[in-house]
This record gives sequence, C-alpha cells and structure tokens, in this order.
Amino acid sequence: MAKYRIAWLPGDGIGKDVLDATRIVLDALKLDAEYVHGDIGWDFWCKEGDPLPQRTIDMMKQTNCAMFGAITSKPRTIANKELDPDLQNKNLVYRSPIVRMRQLFDLYICKRPCKAYPGNSLNYKEGIDLVIFRENTEDLYSGYEFNHIPDAMFRINGLEKLPRDAAISIKVNTPKGCHRIIKTAFDFARSNKRRKVTCVHKANVVRASDGLFLETFNQVASEYSDIQSDDANVDSLCQWILKNPFNYDVLVAPNLYGDIISDLCAQMTGGLGFGSSGNVGEKYAVFEPTHGSAPKYTGMYKVNPIATILAAKMMLEWIGEYDMAVKIENAIRTVVKKGEIRTYDMGGAVSTLDMARAVVEELR
Ligand code: NAI
Ligand code: MG
Repeated sequence: MAKYRIAWLPGDGIGKDVLDATRIVLDALKLDAEYVHGDIGWDFWCKEGDPLPQRTIDMMKQTNCAMFGAITSKPRTIANKELDPDLQNKNLVYRSPIVRMRQLFDLYICKRPCKAYPGNSLNYKEGIDLVIFRENTEDLYSGYEFNHIPDAMFRINGLEKLPRDAAISIKVNTPKGCHRIIKTAFDFARSNKRRKVTCVHKANVVRASDGLFLETFNQVASEYSDIQSDDANVDSLCQWILKNPFNYDVLVAPNLYGDIISDLCAQMTGGLGFGSSGNVGEKYAVFEPTHGSAPKYTGMYKVNPIATILAAKMMLEWIGEYDMAVKIENAIRTVVKKGEIRTYDMGGAVSTLDMARAVVEELR
C-alpha cells in the first residue's frame, strides 16, 4: 500500500493540463502515493446538477489531502440554461465547489506565497517575497445570499428601508474565524523568521465585520511582541504595496480582500502562472494554482504549470516530505534563472509538459 492517498481533482479547462504536468514532477521525485481521481466541475453541474458530487466528497474523506486544478463557473442565468433539461425544474442553485470544499473540510487557511524567483522577466520588482493568509470560510463567501429580501428578514429593524427587490449578500466574520487565521499568520511569521504581519481590512467603513477582524488582530498582535504588526485599509494597501512592496512581509485578510490582493501580488511575482494556493484545515488540505480554468487554452498544453507545481511543493510540506519540497523549489528557481525554458506567458513557447520535464531535469 502506498504511504499517501492523494485526491486528484483536475476539474475543467486547463486544470487537467497543469495537473498532468505536476504529476510528472511528483513521479520523478518517487513520492510514494496513490492518486485517486475525483469528479468536480462544470460538466457535473450540467449533467448531474452538482459540481461537487457526493461520491467525490466521500472519496476525499478517504485521502490525506487533494491536488486540485481549476473549475469553470458561469453567471446564474447561464448556469440554469446549461443544466440538463431533466434537471431544469428542480430549483437547483449553483454553488462554487471550491467554496464548498473549503467549508465542508473547514479549510480555514488559504496560504498564498508570492515570491519573485530571480531572473523572471515577469517580476514587477526583484526580491519581492510576500505571504498572504486569507480567511477561507467566512466573510462575503459564507453563502448567505438573497436575491430579493426574504419576508422574515424584511421585518428586521432597518432592512424595511430597502427596496424589496434588493439583492443582499451577508458578510459574516466570527471571533473564532478571525482569531484562528490571524494566529496562523503570526505563528507562520514567528517560525519562518518573518519581520512583520499586516492586517488588511476596511474597518473604517465596514465597521461591524471588518471592525471585529481588526480588533482581533490587535489583540493577537499584542501576544507576539517579537513580530512587528500594522494594518491598512484594503484600497490604500493596493497602492502602497505597488509603490513599495518591501514594506510588507506577511499579510492577513478576510476572505474577499485576501482573494483580491492575492491576484495583485501574484501579478507582481510572475503572474497567474506562478500563483499557488494551499487551502488548509486541521485535518485536511487542498492545494491548487490561484488561476482559473482558462477555457480557451483547454487541452492545448500551453499554459504554465509552475503555479501548480508550487502548489504540490506546499502539499509536500504539509504531508511532511520537506526534502522533496525543497528540491521542487530549487529546481523551479534554476529553470527560471536559466531562462531557456519558458511557457508563452514568460515569452517562450515550450509546452506545459516540457516545462514540467525541465523542472525534473533540475531536481537534485
Ligand atoms: P483564468 O485564471 O482562468 O485565466 C485568465 C487568463 O490568465 C487566461 O486567459 C490566461 O491568459 C492567463 N492564465 C491563467 N492561468 C495561466 C497559466 N497557468 N499560465 C499562463 N497563463 C495563465 O481566469 P478567468 O479567465 O477570469 O476565468 C476562467 C474561468 O475560470 C471562469 O469560469 C472562472 O469562474 C474560473 N475561475 C476558477 C478559479 C478556480 O478554479 N480556482 C479561479 C478563478 C477563475
Ligand atoms: Mg481568486
């Protein structure tokens, strides 16, 4: 029996391309793992009315962790039209399978390293090395959404002033949810000798939910006197981090702001082809690239697999295979620095799989 069982969830579009490439690297490292395929994505919404079928969830529960490619999602009106005619009248509502995985397995940490590997012409500036901790289960992604205010809710004090046909999405931050992600960011900073943790929020306007996030941050920060801390409104952070990325180190944010700043920081360190993401809880974790399914490139084996290979590096750290993780990162650093093997986004024309093979060549 293999030492690890890993759920293998390619999903839609380029999800398969980048996972195929990642497998080349894991196989070269001789990771003692069994990879178990799982169905997820748009096709399963259309055919079965569920983009994350129960059988996939059951299978994931029998594995150590998951590698996930990407999924396609489409707006409400299109989602309903593309549903199988037999399912049309069942009042099914599309919900993101990624958000569901995060909530089902309580993967409250979304860790997104944004590191500029030296010599990458896509780096905004050399030397950027940021790590984002995004709260992954709450905030505006909690799923409490209503298109037209429900009757019972309409009677709540204050809401009666709103038009009945208003669409509302409830932003939920809990003390427990804020505390555990903020503590994770500080613990990471301490054990990785990081200088500072910055809280990203909009507490001056979104006073209740972001106010709680900031108050919790200040309270946790006071317990880590060895680590500097500060905070910034999300809008102002977006300009300051561009002006001087070196003023920042570890960032912690509620779900939505964390989502947004991680694309911004990914773009500063090589773009979506380099952005990796670890969704981590106490008992389970799902690793993925930050990017989506880029449908126009489906099956062309053209996109950059480095983001996903870096996600596999995070996976290896999570299961305790630290040597393999270091080997992957060193190999990527060497490939980038040599600059000979480049996918289209890096200005080259090598295929997704050849990029993976180039990484394998540098494993030592
Ligand atoms: P996207 O991330 O799929 O692609 C945007 C563009 O970025 C692509 O057209 C391509 O030019 C570039 N790109 C993405 N990945 C790349 C890679 N590995 N190498 C080189 N270039 C790369 O975002 P888009 O187009 O907004 O969304 C497409 C679909 O993906 C939508 O259905 C969206 O809902 C979904 N999506 C899924 C995510 C996920 O599964 N985690 C995250 C973001 C979007
Ligand atoms: Mg995103």
